[in-house]
Amino acid sequence: MEQLLQKIEQYKNEIKESIAESKDEVEAFRIKYLGTKGLVKTIMGEMKNIAAEQKREAGQLLNEFKVFVEEKFEGLKTASASDLQEDAIAEMDLTLPGTSDSIGSRHPISIIQNKIISIFHRLGFSVAEGPEIEDDWHNFSALNLPENHPARDMQDTFYILKNPDWLLRTHTSSVQIREMEKGKLPLRIICPGRVYRNETISARAHCFFNQVEGLYIAENVSFADLKQTLYFFVQEMFGTDVKVRFRPSYFPFTEPSAEMDISCLICDGKGCNVCKKTGWVEILGCGMVHPKVLDNCGIDSNKYTGFAFGMGVERITMLSYQIKDLRLFSENDIRFLKQFAPVT
Ligand code: PHE
Repeated sequence: MEQLLQKIEQYKNEIKESIAESKDEVEAFRIKYLGTKGLVKTIMGEMKNIAAEQKREAGQLLNEFKVFVEEKFEGLKTASASDLQEDAIAEMDLTLPGTSDSIGSRHPISIIQNKIISIFHRLGFSVAEGPEIEDDWHNFSALNLPENHPARDMQDTFYILKNPDWLLRTHTSSVQIREMEKGKLPLRIICPGRVYRNETISARAHCFFNQVEGLYIAENVSFADLKQTLYFFVQEMFGTDVKVRFRPSYFPFTEPSAEMDISCLICDGKGCNVCKKTGWVEILGCGMVHPKVLDNCGIDSNKYTGFAFGMGVERITMLSYQIKDLRLFSENDIRFLKQFAPVT
């Protein structure tokens, strides 16, 4: 028993002093002391030489010794791990360039749509949104589109259900109806959103595209207000050098109606393919809200007047960045998309 005590003390001192500077040295420690032929196992074997009445005490001592070795082993393991980490940091070349994550960019349609929204925001217009799946009333009937109007033809509209009619909205004028029906006046909103038309896909047309439509309803709103609002928009959007002209037009939901052209930004009005050699490009439709539309939405058309306008965001984006094919917007080619301002 005396002998055993002495041995344990001696080993303890030896173990206390042990150091391990690498993973291999930690493993060597484990094998030497805790392995199947290690010291702890060997010394446990001494039990058989201990007198019966001392076995209990000896067993306790040996167990304590085992725990002592195991704790030391754990200590060495963690110490060497952090040593290794420090070594790795010391060896690291901090002057090397890092691997940077590439930053995405906003889609050009989003960039231009946001710009349009912010211009009208400064004039007091707020954004209104509505569903892309619409009923016949909000997309057509309330907008004074007679039953046999060509825009209702199956060729233009994607119908989801017939009778009662459910369809993919062909313009965001449907959102304007929904807002007018709420009955809160005056009303000054813009309606950005995706719309759908059954058109053959080409460089100039797609079966879905984005619109921003606007609506202002109050007492004494006039065509002069409409013109002034749109002049302001064009100058903010394209700069003060751009010329503007209004042409009489027809929409069932406005009277009078007009289309607005701007001088071609590509050829500066001299005539090119984009403006079909006319020097002018159409960018939006507009007009004074038809009294029937106001009545359909429960607004007193004797008291209130209003103007509305609608533009295609793709067209404005193509003009802004001189993009010649509308299909690029929906192809998600990263080489095209990454040319636009990064997300900030
Ligand atoms: N809703 C029309 C379209 O989609 C645009 C428009 C809106 C025209 C408002 C006049 C007034 O083409």
